[in-house]
Amino acid sequence: MLTAGALNDLGARLASAAGPNPPPAWDGGFDPLPDDADAGLILHVKHLALLRCYQARYVLLPDAAPGGSVLDHLAAHYGEDRLRALSNVRGALENELIVPLQAEAATGDVTAYVERLLPELRSVGSDPFLDALAGLTHREDHYRNFLVQSSADLLAEASASALGVIGEFGAPQSALFRILIDEFGYGAHGHKHSVLYQATMRSFGLDDRYNGYWRLFDTHTLVLHNAIHWLFQNPRNIFRQVGFLLFAETAYQRSTLFHARYLGRFHPQADARYFAEHAHIDLHHTQMVVDEVIAPFVERFGPEVGGEIIAGAELTRAVFARNGAGQLALLAAFEAAPSAIYGLRPHGGRLVTPATPVAPAARVQVGAIGAVSAADFHRFPAGATGRLTEAA
Ligand SMILES: [Fe+2]
Ligand SMILES: [Fe+2]
Repeated sequence: MLTAGALNDLGARLASAAGPNPPPAWDGGFDPLPDDADAGLILHVKHLALLRCYQARYVLLPDAAPGGSVLDHLAAHYGEDRLRALSNVRGALENELIVPLQAEAATGDVTAYVERLLPELRSVGSDPFLDALAGLTHREDHYRNFLVQSSADLLAEASASALGVIGEFGAPQSALFRILIDEFGYGAHGHKHSVLYQATMRSFGLDDRYNGYWRLFDTHTLVLHNAIHWLFQNPRNIFRQVGFLLFAETAYQRSTLFHARYLGRFHPQADARYFAEHAHIDLHHTQMVVDEVIAPFVERFGPEVGGEIIAGAELTRAVFARNGAGQLALLAAFEAAPSAIYGLRPHGGRLVTPATPVAPAARVQVGAIGAVSAADFHRFPAGATGRLTEAA
């Protein structure tokens, strides 16, 4: 298990590689842990470190030229020392944080599983988070936080799953590649799903740069996205990756439809193309996964592979459910806080969890929702994180 000291050494090394005031694309560091860090804070920072490990595999460039030589910046961000330091901790972090979450390989028949799963997911009648928002005065602030938390993945949508497409594994690879190029807008930049998502973020006055809200991601968000990266950055998970796609593409057809309707009702001026596009195209993606990936894989390798596909789908169900419950609990806690002030404020302050001791006069910015008093924040559920906005 990685110690707080080892994490702090790594964080300091990454921060020094990034230099002062790096653009979000190359800000590769994470928060230091104080000596008296509580368990929730340690867990959160470990997840930040693991996400940095995964992001190190991405080509990330800022949208404007930085000061100095771009090649010097690349040499620092993707330098051998930095990458080695990250890869040295990755396995230990995965074993501690993600492996315990994975569903055991199931023994059921995958064809029967698919026959049950698809109608189950397609009969979901509403989204509990959006249902909760409909009755709130400050729904826009909570929705902005939803966009911020989801941006951890969606501003580089399908880059995680792209890592499961490279290599050579026969005809299913080409089906997965066709799904991937849909995600990338068939090469038309304006249709790339991450670009559509940027437009939605801008509709809510948000910064649309990848990692622009790194400091506001809560633990639930990090768990979800690290689990997805764990699946796709480990080639041994290829069949579990297929299970992820089966579940995620099917669930997304419904959830994106509800988001498109929600935006049409409450924010008709917002750019909702991201959601409308998915409500339609993911129907095809599910069918491609079932017919062109699962069926030929099971035919080639037998029922053992079906068990892995089920395990991947069930892991996906578990991490989505956990994140959904976490975001709902956060919403309820914020609504119940008497000191709540809504809105996104500067969030450069110290990272805290509800268990972190802070001065009573301090205020805590919680995601993009708003700020509460330290006393109220102590009553927030585990998995919530915040940033001190006033000297504690
Ligand atoms: Fe997509
Ligand atoms: Fe899709």
